[in-house]
Amino acid sequence: MRFLAGVASVTALLGSAASALDVDWSSDDSVKSAASQVAYGMVKYYTGNNTGDVAGNLPDPYYWWEAGAMFGALIDYWVYTGDDTYNKITYQAMLHQAGDDHDYMPENQTRSLGNDDQGFWAMAAMTAAEANFENPPDGKPGWLALTQAVFNEYVSRWDSKDCAGGLRWQIWTFNNGYNYKNSISNGCFFNIAARLYRFTGDQKYADWAEKIFKWQQDVKFIDDDYAVRDGAGYANGENCSEVNGALFTYNAGIFMVGAAHMYNITEDGVWKDRTTGLAKFTTKTFFNEKGIMYEIACEPQGSCNTDQQAFKGHLSRWMATTAQLLPETHESLTPLLQSSAKAAAQQCAGTSSDFKGPAGQACGFSWLKESEYDKNAGVGEQMNALSVIYSTLVDKAKPPFTSKTGGSSKGDPDAGAKDDKKIEKPREITAADRAGAGILTTLVLAGLLGGMFLVTSD
Ligand SMILES: *[C@@H]1O[C@H](CO)[C@@H](O)[C@H](O)[C@H]1NC(C)=O
Ligand SMILES: *[C@@H]1O[C@H](CO)[C@@H](O)[C@H](O)[C@H]1NC(C)=O
Ligand SMILES: *[C@@H]1O[C@H](CO)[C@@H](O)[C@H](O)[C@H]1NC(C)=O
Ligand SMILES: *[C@@H]1O[C@H](CO)[C@@H](O)[C@H](O)[C@H]1NC(C)=O
Repeated sequence: MRFLAGVASVTALLGSAASALDVDWSSDDSVKSAASQVAYGMVKYYTGNNTGDVAGNLPDPYYWWEAGAMFGALIDYWVYTGDDTYNKITYQAMLHQAGDDHDYMPENQTRSLGNDDQGFWAMAAMTAAEANFENPPDGKPGWLALTQAVFNEYVSRWDSKDCAGGLRWQIWTFNNGYNYKNSISNGCFFNIAARLYRFTGDQKYADWAEKIFKWQQDVKFIDDDYAVRDGAGYANGENCSEVNGALFTYNAGIFMVGAAHMYNITEDGVWKDRTTGLAKFTTKTFFNEKGIMYEIACEPQGSCNTDQQAFKGHLSRWMATTAQLLPETHESLTPLLQSSAKAAAQQCAGTSSDFKGPAGQACGFSWLKESEYDKNAGVGEQMNALSVIYSTLVDKAKPPFTSKTGGSSKGDPDAGAKDDKKIEKPREITAADRAGAGILTTLVLAGLLGGMFLVTSD
């Protein structure tokens, strides 16, 4: 994932019309119709199915990971609403971007790829397996096998040398961020390990889920209050001791829902405590007094970048799934989805030059503003609103399938490729490579490590 400084999308505003989504929250049909309008506005940003374009890519300024996240959200859109309008483009994109090695490291993206970027596509593939989404044709790896490929590559990248474990943020030494270990990369690893365990029952996935969670706690990326903190550097003998305490919705959610999968299948009290601990931390940190979700590290200051503007949608979906898998959390999580969805729907009342959906229905970013359109528009804004709106339908939705409950996706426990095959002769790194990968992350690392985000977790 890359981080651009400043506010993400530069949108010329044409003024806002007062036509927010009018939703009757007691009617499933009304909620579905609102979700479908927001989904339509989101997919209008997608250019990957235009003639001559590449399936799976979003145009600038959206990085590759966000497209993976979007297709994951579209699969859940189908699960929650039954509307299969976008299944075809999703299927095409998910197969195309799997790449030649069938591991979500397509050649065009490999050089600037971080573990988290790959992870968002892997999580979308896992969602496809758990949703019994249309299977790839015979002769092509199934969604399960694609996820297993990424899992196996993560295992090969586990680094015990520094900080006694963990994945680095970046995969390649030449990308800045290689010296940083973070919760989102390890969260992607943990998330797919837990879900692979629930889906397949193979003990090795449970062992890794335990190991990753334990490591996160050892280095205090997850503290005693279950605050999930951003990460830490390990160069210059730092050894992950200077933890950057920035709190992001998606970091909390990715561990919470993974822990819920572990609990659901093991019924182990340890996983129950971890899940409820993470849920408690989430509900007290990322919601205002009216129960409206917000991105605490940057939203109040209006400084969330393009990536960060897409995080709340993930937390919304992961809260809904957690409520399914650990029913005890249902009572605390689902009312907050309701209150946030109402505020989000009120935000979907903008007009912006880069929004190609119906006029007056661009979704803003900050739901705290309720009916006052906050003048942001983009894929993240649409995806957040979409996810939280359909997540209110969770009680009617099927919980994720497993291989025992009818999940039909084909696996391959040995899938994956070796990283050293990907960039065989480390050719000279050009300025263009660095611009694509390193420089932007340096800015952000300088910002993060320099305390740009002052939110801490104590
Ligand atoms: C791309 O997909 C969208 C959404 O399904 C559809 O409206 C559009 O017509 C498609 N474009 C092409 C060129 O197929
Ligand atoms: C990589 O880029 C080329 C050139 O734009 C394109 O034809 C190809 O489909 C892309 N591959 C993937 C997996 O995106
Ligand atoms: C580095 O951190 C890990 C994890 O906290 C710890 O186990 C290890 O002892 C530390 N190593 C050094 C040299 O401080
Ligand atoms: C696991 O999830 C299912 C599906 O939502 C739920 O019915 C079941 O009660 C959960 N199991 C436990 C032990 O909570």
